[in-house]
Amino acid sequence: MTSSKPSLEELCPNPVLLAPMVGLTHYAVRAALADFLPEGKRALWMTEMLNSRRIPSQKPNENPEIYFHDAENGLCPQLLANEEEFIRLSVPRLEAWGSRAIDINMGCPVKKALKHNYGVALMGDPHYAAEVVRMTASRASVPVSVKLRASGIPQEGQVHDFDYLLRFIGGLVEAGASWITLHPRSAGQLRKGAADWSVIARLKRELPVPIIGNGDVQIGEDIDRMKEQSGCDRVMVGRALLAKPWLLRHVPGAGVPDPDPYEQHELYGRFLKGVLRRMKEAYPVEAGLRRMRFLIVYSKAWVEFGEYLYGRVMAAQDYEELEAALERFFSTRQRILERTSLRN
Ligand SMILES: Cc1cc2nc3c(=O)[nH]c(=O)nc-3n(C[C@H](O)[C@H](O)[C@H](O)COP(=O)(O)O)c2cc1C
Repeated sequence: MTSSKPSLEELCPNPVLLAPMVGLTHYAVRAALADFLPEGKRALWMTEMLNSRRIPSQKPNENPEIYFHDAENGLCPQLLANEEEFIRLSVPRLEAWGSRAIDINMGCPVKKALKHNYGVALMGDPHYAAEVVRMTASRASVPVSVKLRASGIPQEGQVHDFDYLLRFIGGLVEAGASWITLHPRSAGQLRKGAADWSVIARLKRELPVPIIGNGDVQIGEDIDRMKEQSGCDRVMVGRALLAKPWLLRHVPGAGVPDPDPYEQHELYGRFLKGVLRRMKEAYPVEAGLRRMRFLIVYSKAWVEFGEYLYGRVMAAQDYEELEAALERFFSTRQRILERTSLRN
C-alpha cells in the first residue's frame, strides 16, 4: 500500500534526527540544527504537534509553529488528529507547504490532548487509531508515520503489555503507517524514569517496518548503545540536541569521540546564534524572545553557568539585547556537561 512512497532511508539518510517538541522544534531551531548535519546529508525534521482542527483555516507562515522555509528539506509536520474532515482538509495543505512526510502523534499524554481524544488517548482504541492512519495515508502522497509510547492509558478491561503494543502497531502498519517512532515510556511516566530501550529491540525483531528509537540519549555513546542494543533504524534525540547540536552528526559505531567539553560549548554558542539569526529573519520579536527563553530553559541543564545565561536571556527585551547577551556569554571559555538528570 505504501510501496510507492519514499522510504525512511531515502528521506532521512542521516542516522540521527531531532524529536518533535512543542515550542522548540520550530523553523529557527530546525534550520540552525541543519547546519550541523554532515556535508550532503539529509534528515527528517518533525514539527511540534499541530492541531488538525486549526490547519485548514491557517495561512502558511502565519506564526512560528507553521513557519516553513523553502530551503527546508525533509519537513515532517506532526499532527494531532482524529476526525476525517479535518484530516481531509489538512493533508493537502501540509503537502502544499512542503511536507515530505506526515507524522501522527499518539504519544502526547497532556490533559488538553486527552480531552479531545488526541495523542496517547488513541493508544486506548486500536481500531480507531488504525482508522486515523488509514484516513491520513489514503489521502497523502507522502509517507505517514506514527510516534507513540510503550503503553497508553488502558481502558477498562485492557492490559497495555508488549503484546498489546505489538497488535496495536500491527494495526497501524496494516492501515498504511510507513514507519514507527517509539518513545519507550508509559503514558503515566510522562518524561520521568528511564526509557526502556529493550522495548524498541523487541519491536524491531517483530515488525516489518522501520523503527525510530527515542529517549534519554545524552552523549554520542548513548546513540551507539541504543543502536546496538535495539537495532533501531534511526535514533531520535530531543532535549540533548538542544544543547549538543553536534550529536546530529554522530555516526553510530564509528568510534569518533564527542568533542571536548569546551569545544561543545563553542558549538552550542554557534547553534544559539544560528537560531537567533533565523528568528530575526522570520519571527516578530516577542515570538522570537519567548522561544529563545524556552530553548534556554531546556538546554541550560547541560551548560556550565546555564542559570546565568538564562538570566541574561530573560532580561533581553529585543533582538539586539539578546545578541549582546549571547556574545558576552560565549566570549568566555566554559564547558558543556556530559549528563543531567533529564528532569524537564
Ligand atoms: C518540551 C517538550 C515538548 C514535547 N512535545 C512533543 C510533541 O509535540 N510531540 C511529540 O511526539 N513528542 C513531544 N515531546 C516528546 C519528545 O519528542 C521525546 O519523545 C522525549 O523528549 C524523549 O526524548 P529525549 O529523552 O531525547 O528528550 C516533547 C518533549 C519536550 C521536552
